[in-house]
Parts: sequence; structure tokens; C-alpha cells
Amino acid sequence: MKADLIIKNIGNLITMRGENKPRVKESMKDIEIIKDGYVAIKDGKILDLGKGLNEDLIGNDTQVHDAKGLTVTPGLIDAHTHLVHGGSRENEFSLKISGVPYLDILKNGGGILSTVRATKSASFDELYNKAKKSLNTMLSYGTTTVEAKSGYGLDIDTEIKQLEVAKKLNEDHPVDIVSTFMGAHAIPTEYKGNPEEYVNIVINEMMPRVKELDLAEFCDVFCEDAVFTVDQTRRILNSAKELGFKVKLHADEIVSLGGAELSAELKAISADHLMAASEQGMREMAQNNVIANLLPGTSFSLMKNYADARKMIELGVPVSLSTDYNPGSCPTENIQFIMQLGSLGLKMTPSEVLTAVTINAAFAIDKADQIGSLDIGKKADLVIFDAPNIEYIIYHFGINHVDRVYKEGKLVV
Ligand code: NIG
Ligand code: FE
Repeated sequence: MKADLIIKNIGNLITMRGENKPRVKESMKDIEIIKDGYVAIKDGKILDLGKGLNEDLIGNDTQVHDAKGLTVTPGLIDAHTHLVHGGSRENEFSLKISGVPYLDILKNGGGILSTVRATKSASFDELYNKAKKSLNTMLSYGTTTVEAKSGYGLDIDTEIKQLEVAKKLNEDHPVDIVSTFMGAHAIPTEYKGNPEEYVNIVINEMMPRVKELDLAEFCDVFCEDAVFTVDQTRRILNSAKELGFKVKLHADEIVSLGGAELSAELKAISADHLMAASEQGMREMAQNNVIANLLPGTSFSLMKNYADARKMIELGVPVSLSTDYNPGSCPTENIQFIMQLGSLGLKMTPSEVLTAVTINAAFAIDKADQIGSLDIGKKADLVIFDAPNIEYIIYHFGINHVDRVYKEGKLVV
């Protein structure tokens, strides 16, 4: 068989292949780097890869691209974003800088609730165009797959509008989108005095409708002080599981409530944030293979502490890293900056960081059979970085190192 495309002369070909489970401990560091490598692509998938060049794969119609000795990684995966939303929140920036806590802004009807108002009043096209612009930015930094949550509607029609925007963008845009229903992102103002009633609506009306329309694969809840309690989160996510959703949660972001422990009890696919997670919670996550999807951009942007990634890795929790792109706690699409914070904030090594935004992030959205590593049969999603090695990408921070991006074998950046 001949390849459609061969990328040759790859100085460092970082494959991330090897294990069929989320990487933990030493295996987060132990990554395969092929010096002077090539990747052969056929029908958008990887046909072959290795050292040097396999001339047998070159036919009359094969295109050959030269990677000029640069560094190639799998396409980066952003496994936690709030991609589709209306408006922005720079009006709250000076409050934040002057020390007003994130949860106080929310309690006073701002924060998430301010974006809920903007999302309700935005048209489908406005949401689509804004999210498309963000996807273009993400792709330019090397992100080829994103997870996108609803949660700025808090009523059935707006939640569905957000998920339908994500579905349409998944069809139209080169970046793949995996959708998560997050109707339990905040208590809507109308239910402030009766949150249980809203929880019932999420469980009995919203989730069955989203399932029926097949608009989301995952369900997520913001389990936090003054948002959803551990009991409410348990109730929502158990119902979600019964309906066939896979579950994740925003856990122990600001207050240590036992979200990490709950993620273990529920055998969630991931628990995200975890800045205030207890050591016991981390141990239970490790025992139950729950991925810690850490979001250091949120710590940076909220000017708060970083999650204890070193402790999690030591205890055997698989760690992934994502942006949490949203208009409040982390307004950036730039996954490379998150990788740099993974090292400079979370003290992860560059190899651990790369594992966290590739294969472990693929497991965090249950797509590791298709993406997350460069291996025969997987999608040909890959990034050429204008860098001599991965350390350089992390060390030289704040700029975009992308030279080219391929999505399913097509040059898209
Ligand atoms: O993951 N923490 C809850 N949700 C988002 C923030 C959403 C917002 O502030 O608009 C997060 O940080
Ligand atoms: Fe989030």
C-alpha cells in the first residue's frame, strides 16, 4: 500500500504510543522519541511510522512534506473547555484584581450567571461565530480535539442551543469536538431559594432530552460550596450514568468538599480542578483510575494555589492538563501556555506535561483508541513544533511554537 502523505526528516518524533491505559507515575515520563523519523498517512490515518524513511510507501501520488528536522507530537487535546458562550467578563477583572473572591461575584449574581444572561440572549449564529473564532485560535496553538461543555443556559432551550452549536462546529470545523452536558453549572437565579427543584429539572427534564437528541457524551457538575453539594452532585451523576452518560466533575476547585472522593465513588472518568483535593481523595482516585484533569490556567487567572500535581503523580493518579477555556476563571484558548504552567506552576516535567495533553487527555474524553498518540491506525492528527525538543517548548514560554498542524492527514495550519 502507498501513502497519501509522508512527513519526513522529523528531528524528534514523539509518539506517546506504548500503553493502552492512562499513564501513571514513571510512565508519564517514559516517552518514545524517534530521532530522524517519518510518519506515513493514508485516508487520514497513520499507515506507518519509524526511523529514516520507508521508500516502499512512496507511490506516484504520494506527497512528501519535509519537517526540516523539527519536533513532532500528536495533536494536542484540550479535555476541558466551556467553548460555547456569549459575551465576556472583563468588567469583573478589576473586582478580581482588587481581591473580591470568585464565589462572591457568583453569589451576587455575576460570574457564571452573567455569562448565562449573555448566552441566553445570543443567537445561534452569534454563539457559533464566537466559538469558531476560539476554535481557530486553539488549532493555531496545536489543539486538534476539544471537549466542550454546556452550562451557560441553565434552561433546557439554551442548554440545547449551546450543544447544537458545538455539534455544528464539530461538523464544519477541522477540530473535533466532544460534548458534555453541564446543566448543573450554577443554580439559576430563579431557583436560588430552592436548588433541589432545579436539581430535579436537570435530572428529570434536561438530561433525558439531551440524551434523546444525542447531543452529549458526558455529564459534568460544578460540585462546590454554594453551588452543587456533594449529595446533589451524586444524585445528578448517578442519574446521568443510568441514562448512559459518562461522568466527570468539577471537584474541590476552591473549597475541599470531598469532590475527589466522590469522583472515586462514582468511578468518574475524570475529576477536574482539584486545587483543594484531600490526600485521601487522591488515594481513592488512584485506586479507581479516575484521571485528575488539572487546569493550571484557572489557578493563574484566579491568582490562587496550584493543584498538588506532584502528590497526585506520586500516589499513582493519572494526570491530564487542559485549558478550562471560559470567560470567567480562565479566558485563554492557548494550550501551550497551560503546558508551560504545567511545569512552572504544577512542577511537572516537560515529558509529564506532554503525556498530560496527549494520551492522558485522550483517556479523559474516552477517545484513546483514536487519538492521543501516533500509532498505526490512529487519526493522523499531529503538530510540527518549531523547536529542537519538547523542553524548549515549555522553557520558552508565552509564544506560539507551532510550525504546522495536520488534522486527519490534512495540513490545516
Ligand atoms: O471550570 N468552576 C466552574 N466553572 C468554570 C468557570 C466558569 C465561569 O466562571 O464562567 C471553571 O472554572
Ligand atoms: Fe470548567
